[in-house]
Amino acid sequence: MSNNPARIAVAYHSGYGHTAQQAEAVAAGASVVPGAVVELVPLDELTDEVWQRLAAADAIVFGSPTYMGGPSAVFKAFAEASAKVWADDLAWRDKIAAGFTNSKAMSGDKLNSLVYFSILAAQHGMIWVGLDLYPGWSESTASSEDLNRLGSWLGAMAQSDADLSAEKAPPATDLRTAAALGTRVATVTIRHLRGAPAA
Ligand SMILES: Cc1cc2nc3c(=O)[nH]c(=O)nc-3n(C[C@H](O)[C@H](O)[C@H](O)COP(=O)(O)O)c2cc1C
Repeated sequence: MSNNPARIAVAYHSGYGHTAQQAEAVAAGASVVPGAVVELVPLDELTDEVWQRLAAADAIVFGSPTYMGGPSAVFKAFAEASAKVWADDLAWRDKIAAGFTNSKAMSGDKLNSLVYFSILAAQHGMIWVGLDLYPGWSESTASSEDLNRLGSWLGAMAQSDADLSAEKAPPATDLRTAAALGTRVATVTIRHLRGAPAA
């Protein structure tokens, strides 16, 4: 059993800053777990340092806005460039993976981005972790302030009103959901690295 920290990388793209807020919330949620070390890895420039930071991570959380029903072109460029990691004997094998996305519509076909991230993870031999939350805002007495108000299991979803800047959107309710995903990823990663405590 190792007590080395669990290294969580949040690998994301954000065109206008909204998804970056979600990425920071995922990172903040992971950071509250004792033993987790978290870093944000923007994917705008695919430098050697980016690949080194991801190689060193125990978990990679993929994030992108949903553009035209899927991940952004910047994220797709990263995914395609990751083929060189894949070709290196599945160098990301057994890392924990998860994902999040943000778009302007409540649905906006965001699920397609999460499906894309999960397939990317599977192709790399990574271990996908979803969101262990019941859907919020889905009963007559429920509220848009509920955790997981957009009702996703595959990963964390957020919605940003198109006329609001990244200082105001996505709303706090979606950032709490993103933080919950970060906490879950860090907890599962530590369990994966150290094993479950003996009963
Ligand atoms: C090229 C483009 C395509 C988009 N496609 C979608 C879409 O398919 N569904 C949706 O709900 N919103 C869509 N949007 C809205 C963005 O997802 C939304 O503005 C999001 O908050 C942007 O996040 P960002 O600031 O991190 O780039 C699109 C925006 C752009 C610029």
